[in-house]
Amino acid sequence: MDRRWREGLERLRARVDATGMAVREGFPHYGDVATGSWTTSPAGDWTGGFWCGMCWLAALGGGEPRHRRWALEWAERLRPRAGSDTVFRGFLFYYGALLGAVLLGDAPARELGLAGAKGLAGSFNPSAGVFPLGNEAEEASDVGRGESSIDGVQGMALLVWAARETGETSWREMAVRHTRRHVEFCVRPDGSVCQSASFEPATGKTLRRYTHKGIHDASTWARAQAWGILGYTVMHQWTGEPDFLDVARRTADWWLAHLPGDRIAPWDFDDPAGAGATRDTSATAIVAASLLKLAALAPDGERRNIYRAAAEASVEALLERYLDQRGILSHGCYNKRIDLATQHELIWGSYYLFEALHVLTGALDATRI
Ligand code: GLY
Repeated sequence: MDRRWREGLERLRARVDATGMAVREGFPHYGDVATGSWTTSPAGDWTGGFWCGMCWLAALGGGEPRHRRWALEWAERLRPRAGSDTVFRGFLFYYGALLGAVLLGDAPARELGLAGAKGLAGSFNPSAGVFPLGNEAEEASDVGRGESSIDGVQGMALLVWAARETGETSWREMAVRHTRRHVEFCVRPDGSVCQSASFEPATGKTLRRYTHKGIHDASTWARAQAWGILGYTVMHQWTGEPDFLDVARRTADWWLAHLPGDRIAPWDFDDPAGAGATRDTSATAIVAASLLKLAALAPDGERRNIYRAAAEASVEALLERYLDQRGILSHGCYNKRIDLATQHELIWGSYYLFEALHVLTGALDATRI
């Protein structure tokens, strides 16, 4: 095993310990790089599952009993969110609970994951074939009953898993319909991704494409692209639907064609600052984890090699220049438009780097979660 990957993994494991011991209330959301202190979200916002996911991964990799205890304690705090009106229940309960069920056979985590899936399934709009963002979703100032975003695609895998576990086949069908609709909503013909769309709730007709966090509606916000690559890759992994793999490849190839030479994504690919644009390590980490999956799923050897090499190059760049000795991943850009946490540690960026390092060290099969 490559020493670089093992050392990176150890640094992040140390950060899991420091975080678990320091944070008492709420969920770690974003962190100040200088002090190492976290800003927490009281009920988990859209990110609480990523912290639980880090604890589940730490428990998987020969962790201490406290890692599994923390994972389950924080996952239980997500339970009330099974009833909250947000498509991001997918993120919350996939990483917060499904990981414990799939990786460790944890029965309480399985029960919690199914509760999250059941709650999410209840918000499907069958006329439109979409789970709308929901009025408790992040970006709630813009949401109505006819809004949807690319970041709600990955979480559909929670429903595919839950359908298998329970025999509720309609949950898989809803998840597949939602995922397919987002090709039309968010994926441009050149393979770039737009964050969001408005649709007519009664018919599902697309009304407009737009962004909450990018520079402008026609730009490519790095995390829209990253969530698109991840969403279609994970949904292909769970369903085997071939068109999802095709979208994953097109969006990943766009990313690779536009990534700067330093292998770290700008926060928005259309920032006029060009090479000087603020970076987003969290988008970079999301895509590195996705490329490792694509390297296992792509049908031809040449593509597999390209994706694996690109994933390794980005993880190496993150480790060398952005992950410090305390295990803090700096330069995540949460929301440049409102100047929120633009050079910070972001819990989801750390999660995906941790996941990628588990794959690179051989502790986790890339397509297991
Ligand atoms: N809404 C998800 C994100 O900011 O990436």
